[in-house]
Amino acid sequence: MQYRILGQTGLKVSILGFGGIPIGRVDEKDAVAVVNHALDMEINFIHTSITYGDSAYKIGKVMEERRDECLLAVKIGGSQRTKEEAEERLKSTLEALNTDHVEIAELPINVHDFPKAMRPGGAYEAFEEAKKEGIIDHIGITSHDVDFLVEAIQTKAFSNLITPFNYAANSAKEELLSLTSDLDIGVIAMKTLGKGGLTNPSQALRYVWNHNIDTAIVGMNRLTEVEENVAVAKNPRALTEEEKEELREKAEDIVKTGRLSGSGSVALR
Ligand SMILES: NC(=O)c1ccc[n+]([C@@H]2O[C@H](COP(=O)([O-])OP(=O)(O)OC[C@H]3O[C@@H](n4cnc5c(N)ncnc54)[C@H](OP(=O)(O)O)[C@@H]3O)[C@@H](O)[C@H]2O)c1
Repeated sequence: MQYRILGQTGLKVSILGFGGIPIGRVDEKDAVAVVNHALDMEINFIHTSITYGDSAYKIGKVMEERRDECLLAVKIGGSQRTKEEAEERLKSTLEALNTDHVEIAELPINVHDFPKAMRPGGAYEAFEEAKKEGIIDHIGITSHDVDFLVEAIQTKAFSNLITPFNYAANSAKEELLSLTSDLDIGVIAMKTLGKGGLTNPSQALRYVWNHNIDTAIVGMNRLTEVEENVAVAKNPRALTEEEKEELREKAEDIVKTGRLSGSGSVALR
């Protein structure tokens, strides 16, 4: 497994992270087996949220025994964007995960709700207090809106971010990725397989890892998916010119046909 440092957090993360959505769709026994397999294969970064069905609860079953083998990143949402709501959701998340602390808590937010979340009594204050109390180590932000992320990370309130990034939805490529590098913000890519809609996971993942991305949280709910993706992560070689051309053509087709709508790109929305 290859590892990268997640920007200023200093966390050493496997370039292949575990995205928690798909295990919400399989039974508990299979979900626990997949998470255990991911840890056995040296994936050390797990992302989930209590908004993903029972994903956090299933991961919590594994954490009973193996909490010290991984870093946990959790999305803490809430429509009211208030401190109370964020506190309540953080508490429920920790309970589901069977832990008293997580390495990263992410604020999912858009440009419209940002002022509310950041003002006194807003969700961000709950994150700051939790950080002081040692309940979370780092505060991140998550959004599909690249222009907004460019603004938000300049507030210096966040040490890392999550945004969609794949060969058909790579709007983060230029301005955002150059800024994250300048500001030493950790970059976590999501929807790297277009929610399962992108063919050839090897090419799709190598495309991501050959950009300024620290880890890709890939949703997996089968043992074979973990094995296939880990094999790619062990050797994320650069794409050949032919492969790049192939992906350019596939991306054009995806944008033209509107396939994968909802996988995160501005172009695809
Ligand atoms: N912060 C946020 O706002 C936010 C929002 C959304 C998601 N996320 C996070 O990002 C993660 C990734 O997003 P995602 O799960 O929606 O999409 P994704 O990682 O692009 O795609 C996941 C799907 O890819 C398929 N897959 C995985 N490995 C494969 C392989 N080797 N071969 C063939 N298919 C493979 C699986 O499909 P099958 O199920 O068909 O097997 C899986 O469901 C989520 O799990 C979640 O943790 C964060």
